[in-house]
Amino acid sequence: MVIETLVASHAVGKGAEPDAVFAILKAANAATAKYGKGQVINASIGALYTEEEKFATLPTVEAYFRSIPAEELMNYAPISGLPEFLEAAIADTFQGFQPPHTYARAIATPGGTGGVRHAIYNYVEQGEKVLVPDWAWGPYHTIAAEHLRGTETYEMFDRDFHFNFDAFTEKAEGLLKTQNNFLAIFNTPAHNPTGYSLTVEEWRQILDLCKAWAANEQKKIILLLDMAYLDYAGDVEETRQFMRLFEALPANVLILIAYSMSKAYLIYGMRSGALIALSSSPEVAQEFERISAFSNRGVWSNGTRGAQRLLADLAKDPVLRSKVTAERNVYRDLLKQRSAILLEEARAVDLQLMPYQSGFFITVPTAQPRQLVEKLMSENLFTVPLKKGIRLAICAVPTYKVPGMAQKIKAALST
Ligand SMILES: Cc1ncc(COP(=O)(O)O)c(C=O)c1O
Repeated sequence: MVIETLVASHAVGKGAEPDAVFAILKAANAATAKYGKGQVINASIGALYTEEEKFATLPTVEAYFRSIPAEELMNYAPISGLPEFLEAAIADTFQGFQPPHTYARAIATPGGTGGVRHAIYNYVEQGEKVLVPDWAWGPYHTIAAEHLRGTETYEMFDRDFHFNFDAFTEKAEGLLKTQNNFLAIFNTPAHNPTGYSLTVEEWRQILDLCKAWAANEQKKIILLLDMAYLDYAGDVEETRQFMRLFEALPANVLILIAYSMSKAYLIYGMRSGALIALSSSPEVAQEFERISAFSNRGVWSNGTRGAQRLLADLAKDPVLRSKVTAERNVYRDLLKQRSAILLEEARAVDLQLMPYQSGFFITVPTAQPRQLVEKLMSENLFTVPLKKGIRLAICAVPTYKVPGMAQKIKAALST
């Protein structure tokens, strides 16, 4: 007898779908080797690349890492994270926009991914569902499935490309009929994959809905804000103003924020971030701290001390911090420059894009994403297929290669 599986029943079939991005990257590398770098546009990479198509770093961050003594770089961190790091993560997130009379607590996690994991596992019952938009980072579904939870999706945009309240409300209220624990994930600002940011008014409406649902005290309303691209979306004031709306929320409404150092400091592989809880209730905040510390111990133990040390030291040194901000803003402007060309050319050739405002990615909606990706691949333009469109990683394409991309995509869609 051929034995084909030894795994436990919940693990059967995991990972059966091939990784589309990996295959595309391989094809892009093969094309570069064959035709030369100048002939290939690789818009499939989810990291910032320089105008010379090299991995981008913030020089002050890189120099800092290379100077940290081994003990601070390589030693264990405390299970919850270095206390100064936790304070710094909260400060970096709110930058003066934490509403009064709220309690903020943080726990170190390996990137934003770790925060998403803790939120889904600790705030949703086994077998129940998390609410995510139809345009969303794929791993939300994977993380939910890995932890024996499911996902419910709603159409994120209405016909005018505004946040679709009707769809959100309908699906949320559907879940609230059968679940007491309700968790909705919002990836904003600079949403992956569209580049959309919820407006202050949209936030106000979402919170009004949550407050109404929370009138039933059995309901636990949790909003997880995945803010992986926060610092590429604009200035402190414009990106954080909405946080003031989190004032005076009922105790059964909890705001969780997945804070990530990956993009903000261009240290993706250092795996550092935090899950931050914001509550009007000191008990809820304390409970969050306690259960999250337990989860850290039970899943990955502790986080990357060197990255925690970096953030803690930046918090203490305004000069160093402003150098890092200035270096990051160079890339923020570069993203703006690259995207402006694409948006302008898309308008000129009447290519429909999802409503991009900022961030690493621009998305073209299409009912046949795989076909479009393959057509573009045959022209040495490498992109990533999504369920309802294709994703262009403007973060990885040098400015001089952007002109012509929109025309190429428009032509491929028309044939
Ligand atoms: C939308 C979104 N959320 C979260 C993450 C998590 O990143 P990390 O775990 O490296 O912080 C990413 C990374 O690509 C992302 O695109």
